[in-house]
Amino acid sequence: MKRTVLRKVLVGVAVALVGIQLVPVQRSNPPADGAMALPAGEVGEILTSACMDCHSHETVWPWYAGVAPVKFLVAKHVNDGRRNLNFSTWATQELSRRDHKLEEIVEVVKSGEMPEGSYTWLHPEARLTDAQRYALTAWAEAERVRMSAPDTAAAVPADSVADPMPDSAGAAGAGDGGRAERD
Ligand code: HEC
Repeated sequence: MKRTVLRKVLVGVAVALVGIQLVPVQRSNPPADGAMALPAGEVGEILTSACMDCHSHETVWPWYAGVAPVKFLVAKHVNDGRRNLNFSTWATQELSRRDHKLEEIVEVVKSGEMPEGSYTWLHPEARLTDAQRYALTAWAEAERVRMSAPDTAAAVPADSVADPMPDSAGAAGAGDGGRAERD
């Protein structure tokens, strides 16, 4: 009697595990229209290897992200991550929001909250050393200062700030474009 019950339970679990695979989950990488120009060098590498999977539209979906029930968890992390901080829509976001996000980056990287433990467990390359945490937070702080300066709101790699001869090509020619449209 007991055996038949156990067998029924096991069969039920097996059927459920197979059935759950059929439940669809959103796992897409939408276009990265407002992607941040990632800083060159170490910080860009840290962002790419430790943050972008959950905070951009350039997610590298691992094979287990296709297997239920794990796929629901992975999709939730990515969706929540993108909603909170998205480097793929960065340039389209309000300056004040970007500033706030950089402030949060400093906080969560210093506290060790990010990258998430469940992620670094499976992605050892995303575990940050103290030096990497320092580099990342120093960049975020410098980026806040740079963004608060007038006329520098456009995404420019952080390391060009100290450039003694800033490239002014982008500003040239802005004067003639509008004329034709004037009524
Ligand atoms: C495994 C996915 C994942 C990775 C990798 C990841 N994050 Fe997150 N991150 C999340 C999720 C999910 C949230 C939303 C958490 C919440 O709602 O409480 C979040 C929230 C945040 C926030 C907002 C915090 C707040 O107070 O609202 C910041 C800033 C952040 N992450 C920065 C980073 C940085 C920087 C990295 C890389 C060093 C990183 N994250 C790596 C998933 C991730």
